[in-house]
Parts: sequence; C-alpha cells; structure tokens
Amino acid sequence: MLTKPNSVHQGTMGAIVQDEYGSPDVLELRDVDKPKIEVDQILVHVHAAGVNPADWAVMSGLPYIARPVYGLRKPKKAVRGTDVAGTVEAVGAGVTRMQPGDEVFGWCGGLGGAFAEYAAVSENALAPKPANLTFEQAAAVPMAGLVAHQALRDHGKVRAGQKVLINGASGGIGTFAVQIAKALGAEVTGVCSTRNVDLVRAIGADHVIDYTREDFTRKDRRYDFILDNVANHSLSDLRRALTLTGTLVPNGGGFDNRWFANGGRVVGAHVLDRFVGHRLRPFLVSPKLEDLVTLKELIEAGKVTPVIDRTYPLSETPEAVGRVGGGHARGKVAVTV
Ligand SMILES: NC(=O)c1ccc[n+]([C@@H]2O[C@H](COP(=O)([O-])OP(=O)(O)OC[C@H]3O[C@@H](n4cnc5c(N)ncnc54)[C@H](OP(=O)(O)O)[C@@H]3O)[C@@H](O)[C@H]2O)c1
Repeated sequence: MLTKPNSVHQGTMGAIVQDEYGSPDVLELRDVDKPKIEVDQILVHVHAAGVNPADWAVMSGLPYIARPVYGLRKPKKAVRGTDVAGTVEAVGAGVTRMQPGDEVFGWCGGLGGAFAEYAAVSENALAPKPANLTFEQAAAVPMAGLVAHQALRDHGKVRAGQKVLINGASGGIGTFAVQIAKALGAEVTGVCSTRNVDLVRAIGADHVIDYTREDFTRKDRRYDFILDNVANHSLSDLRRALTLTGTLVPNGGGFDNRWFANGGRVVGAHVLDRFVGHRLRPFLVSPKLEDLVTLKELIEAGKVTPVIDRTYPLSETPEAVGRVGGGHARGKVAVTV
C-alpha cells in the first residue's frame, strides 16, 4: 500500500514529516532515519495509523499557547501521527510484555510518530491488537476510544439506566462514546447532522437528534451526563439540558481563538464546577494501558466496533489530516502504511 520515495537504504523509512507549521501541504512523504528505541520502548512495524484532530492541531501549530510543547518555530518531532497499529519489530532491553511478531495497537505520544513505516512506542502505551479487527480498525481506536471511555466511566461515572447525550455522536469520539455508553447500560441520545442519523442509530443510540432541525438545549428532556464533542453551545445552555446533579464533559472546541483555542471554556467549566450543583469535568485524555485493554475487551466482546469513514494510503496523509481538520468525518479516518 505504501507509495513512497525510494527508501532503499538500510536504516531509513518512509514517513510523513513537516519542517514548518501550516495547512496539510506542509506534510511531505520523505525518507528519514528509522527511530531508535529506548530501553522501555518497542519498535512497531506500522501497518496503519489513525488520524485525530490532535494531528491537525500539531500540524497547524495551534493553539499558539501550545507551541512551547510542540516546538516554537517548527514541531520538535517532525513525523506526525498519534495512533498506531502494527507488528512488533524489536523490543528494548527492559520490555517484558511484548516480543517480535506480536500484533499491537496504541499511542505514539502526543507529539507524533505514527505516520511512518516504523514507530518507537512506550511499552506502557501498547496493547495486543483486538483479534477481530483489521489494522486500520485497530489504529482508529486509541485516542478517540480512550477519550470516550475515560469521559463516560471516570469523569461521568455513568451507570446503567442513566440518560446520556453525546453531542457530535457521528465523529471519531462520538461513535465510540455512543457504543460504550450503551455497553454501560445507559439510555443514549446521539446528536448529529441529517446525513448521519442512520449511522448513529445503527451503532446503538436509542434516540437521535438531528441538530439541523432541533436544538437539544431548548427541549424539555434532561440528561444525567452530556459529552460535548463540538462546543457549539454555551456552557449555560448545555447545563440547562442536565438533570439537577448531572455531569457535563465539555470536550470539543475548534481554533477560532488561535491563541488559546477552547482554554477559556475549560477555565470557565472548572470555575463553575465549584459553585453549581452540576459537575463540569473537562479533562485531558491519558494513554493508560489498562484502558486500552478494556477497549480491546469491549471490541472482542462485540460491544464496540470502530466506525471507519475512509482509509488513505500513506502518500495521501495530507488529505486524510485535512478531512479530519474539516470537522465532519463520519467515525474515524485511517492511513494504511
Ligand atoms: N479531552 C481530550 O483530551 C481530547 C482528546 C482528543 C480530542 N479532543 C477533542 O474532541 C473533539 C471531537 O473530536 P473527534 O475526534 O470526535 O472529532 P471529529 O471526528 O472531527 O468529529 C466531530 C463531529 O462533530 C460533529 N458536528 C459538527 N458540528 C456539529 C454540530 N453543530 N452539532 C453536533 N455535531 C456537530 C460532526 O458531525 P456532522 O458531520 O454530522 O456535522 C463530526 O462527526 C475535538 O474538538 C477534539 O479536539 C479532546
């Protein structure tokens, strides 16, 4: 599947790299050195990579306040891509759980490395690949699946019988969240546009609201938990749709504010959380191994199936990242390496 420059030299590989911040055309397929692994790392022969809004953000260098982390003038790490699935090629001396040949999926770290033939990944961020998934499906899981899982279980403490609303139910995180909330026994309402109503119903939502026709914050129905992946309503409008002690995870937000992105909303949520009856819980996802394993179990039990919007060859990664950056992917976008 790989369409790449002649990566014929031993020790080099094809990878999607960038030398400056900007739009998807800063991403180039080039030969670079294969990554070297540390003692606790695994060299993964990458078969597929998942695409996330985070890849678009680092590519763009947005928000500006994150540049000390990304790299001030250009990304510290040139290779983009966070989510990975592939085969173990080699292991560091301290690695105990994996061996060459194992099929794995996981998280390369916030600063990238997955859009390449090989990636160096911490042992603690890699789990055995779900046996019933293709590499593309497995690569679609880590970041979006972890956000959905941690939002519902850790921050929402969602229990059977509760009413849950997922705003942005047809996107990367939303398609996992609808299925995980159903697996937890919740009554699930998904919010999406007209073209995605059937999809959201097909993955298990009990009720679907087409946001082009109805505004859920203006209806009478109240929810115990809302996961907002979009940030198209104010916090006070979202709170109006909660039960008296309901929980809101304000998760989404674009880059209209190029300096701080949704930082103001996150601070506002933390402040409100102290003074109102509702719980408002913005959070940063963390790549916990035990959570990757829980996702694998849910997937192998048939309770969660990744929804793949499109797959692209590695050479078309700029199009793949642009599609996700457009904010209207249906489920996940993956890159085949
Ligand atoms: N907390 C964390 O650590 C963390 C980690 C990763 C990502 N995130 C954030 O989570 C957010 C969602 O990520 P994602 O991967 O799910 O993004 P995504 O795949 O781009 O999904 C966005 C979804 O939003 C929907 N949407 C757009 N406008 C809408 C509206 N007015 N009402 C309802 N839905 C609307 C789109 O559906 P239609 O096409 O139907 O409009 C699309 O399915 C992003 O802002 C991302 O930055 C947070």
